[in-house]
Amino acid sequence: MGFCLGIESTAHTFGVGIVDTQCNVLANEKKSYTSEDAGIKPREAADFHMKNASEILQSALKKTGLTWKDLNVIAFSQGPGLGPCLGVGCTTARTLSMLHRIPLLGVNHCVAHIEIGKKLTGSKDPIIAYVSGGNSQIIGYESRRYRVFGETLDIGVGNLFDVFARDLGLGFPGGPKLDQRYFGAEAYIPLPYSVKGMDLVFSGLLTAAKKQAGKMDETDLCYSLMHTALAMITEVTERALAHTGKEEVLLTGGVAASKALQKMMQEMCDARGAKLYIVPKEYAMDNGAMIAWLGLVEFLAGKRMKLENTQVNQRFRTDHVNVHWMK
Ligand code: ATP
Ligand code: FE2
Repeated sequence: MGFCLGIESTAHTFGVGIVDTQCNVLANEKKSYTSEDAGIKPREAADFHMKNASEILQSALKKTGLTWKDLNVIAFSQGPGLGPCLGVGCTTARTLSMLHRIPLLGVNHCVAHIEIGKKLTGSKDPIIAYVSGGNSQIIGYESRRYRVFGETLDIGVGNLFDVFARDLGLGFPGGPKLDQRYFGAEAYIPLPYSVKGMDLVFSGLLTAAKKQAGKMDETDLCYSLMHTALAMITEVTERALAHTGKEEVLLTGGVAASKALQKMMQEMCDARGAKLYIVPKEYAMDNGAMIAWLGLVEFLAGKRMKLENTQVNQRFRTDHVNVHWMK
């Protein structure tokens, strides 16, 4: 039996998870920073993480009944993310590793979303739509890498929803508010649909929708913005399926909770004979358990890191990770 403690701190959320080799989640504690507006102020978020780190760590460990000496490895999100936020997780993890003499691994945040998603849903070789506040990527495994087939060239789709909802005065986070309105709409208002090759651009859509605010029915406008953005994501996912011949789709990231996205993806998968897997919300949003799980998988496959190689990497790309643990 082995245990890994994972620390997540790439953006809003400071999370600590503890898992065992079967991916039983013994603890998954977290707190998320929110601000008045939909944006994130990196230094404020980092201060928030700093204030809460010790309490979250202690409450996670307490939940498991384990002590420090029971842990086999400590993992943390090395990137991608916001520098000041990543720094808190990294420093915390390094300190604990040195203090308790536990091996330390830095892991990729996006790959952590994928690996826990596969493990919890039983999906084997999916096209992954990783859709969250800050990220939107369509990914698939090929020759030891998680290849990024398409991604946003500007903002994450969750951020699009949050900014638009804030503008309408609907509150934060905006995604769930729009998702509720989606099914009550009566008409589609045409908005810019912009897929460039396999990549996505959301800022033109946001600007156009903002211009219609106050002029058009609010429910119809929420629906139309969401429908356009989600159709773009679904189109690129479908093309990735067609290109690779894969037969599974895995939805993860905070936006995977969207009923509208789930419905659209289900229809696409049904039409192609593919199977749709949805990561449960607790593990699709940023969390420590996913970091712990990827850390444990990499550790058991033999990966070790020297302390000096565990700096944060704000631009740590999904496709830079050598997927050495895959047979
Ligand atoms: P990152 O980009 O680093 O993965 P994050 O903190 O921006 O992290 P998550 O915690 O994964 O993102 O997800 C938050 C996002 O998910 C928010 O933008 C929120 O609006 C969106 N979201 C949550 N629930 C729903 C829903 N039901 N429908 C649509 N969007 C949703
Ligand atoms: Fe994330």
